[in-house]
Amino acid sequence: MSDAIHLIAAKQLVTVDETFGTPANPLGVIEDAVMVFDAEKILWVGERDRYPENLYSDACWLIDPKLTEDKVILPGLIDSHTHPVFAGDRAKEFEQRLQGVSYQEIAANGGGIQTTVKATREASEEELFALAKKRLERMLSFGVTSVEAKSGYGLDRQSELKSLRVIARLQQALQMRIVPTYMGAHDIPDEYKANPDQYVQRLCDELIPEVAESALAEFCDVFCDEGYFNAEQSRAILQAAQNHGLGIRIHADEFKAIGGCEVAGDLKAASADHLLNITDSGIAALKAGETVATLLPGTAFYLRLPYAPAKKILEAGIPLALATDFNPGSCMSENLQLVMTLACLQMRMTPAEVIKAVTIQAAKALKLEHQKGSLALGKSPDFVVFDVANYQELLYHFGVNFVEHVVIGATLVHTTHARPPLPCLSSFD
Ligand code: NIG
Ligand code: FE
Repeated sequence: MSDAIHLIAAKQLVTVDETFGTPANPLGVIEDAVMVFDAEKILWVGERDRYPENLYSDACWLIDPKLTEDKVILPGLIDSHTHPVFAGDRAKEFEQRLQGVSYQEIAANGGGIQTTVKATREASEEELFALAKKRLERMLSFGVTSVEAKSGYGLDRQSELKSLRVIARLQQALQMRIVPTYMGAHDIPDEYKANPDQYVQRLCDELIPEVAESALAEFCDVFCDEGYFNAEQSRAILQAAQNHGLGIRIHADEFKAIGGCEVAGDLKAASADHLLNITDSGIAALKAGETVATLLPGTAFYLRLPYAPAKKILEAGIPLALATDFNPGSCMSENLQLVMTLACLQMRMTPAEVIKAVTIQAAKALKLEHQKGSLALGKSPDFVVFDVANYQELLYHFGVNFVEHVVIGATLVHTTHARPPLPCLSSFD
């Protein structure tokens, strides 16, 4: 790895770092800023005319400052809840939903997750890899530098391991940080529909220990909702995961509050996600468990459901993250920027709350907050240059992609320029 030291200039450097934050400037925005970094960490951040010129005498510009000094730089966005490994599509079910059939009715008739499970079981590892790679690259093009990726469309032992291997191969192929989650409890497989408890037992005694042993997953997730796994089953699954050293997260209160948040809080899960129907007791449980609330407004939009009570959750002092929930059934979009605008308009979150939710809070949801999620000294130099005049424009002007450059670990991994800007202009002025 190169040990070169680079500089980048910005009109606004949105650090999301408490060191620079004040009540009037909650995101720690530095105007007319410069950031200095090597391949591993951020070395200096501040106003450009305060940079001590000879601090790093061999530092050079990663991108010509004339190309970025009127742009806004944010920490690389973090999408902390996605389901990118699947084959097939659900366009037919989309049309059925437009005719008034609900998501749950489609699932009860053997469609829904099971449609995708059939296609995913039949697909080869190679096919799944190619499909998922395209999806993650699309996320990257929207400014995402770290992403959580779940299995969960295989449901049998082999197909789940196949999906997790795909995620491991994606981590080898892409520079994004990919956090793998085992979601064998995404649905009850057809083979066990008559006896779900038997599947739960198998998950706890055999499948989770094997996945943990394989080191193919960092987290285990469960879909705790009516018609899927109940609270007691979810607790058993997540407890087994914890006993085998996996981090835990949960899909809770999407359709009905059946105790998922209470399980999350009790077990101190890293994150509880969806929460469209969260109750006061669920809010209290997340607060007590220091569990991040991850809201997925793209799913409420796509299923035309009421949105989660974001303001109430924030007022309770719970860290709130936002993610896409990218998946073929309930949110077929990789666009985290669109989700950010939905959060403003439909859940009345402020632009500052939204930006924290897709950076530092999403990092917390993945236990990455010590390396990612803000442009703080010592953290990874993962950042995005957006072609906007101020950070609010990113939320206000919606449905377009403002990403101009994406940098991960001092490497320009994505650019909209036909000829990538050359690094290493050496003089500082
Ligand atoms: O997060 N809620 C559970 N799972 C997905 C939907 C999966 C699907 O419909 O394929 C979700 O919304
Ligand atoms: Fe999900």
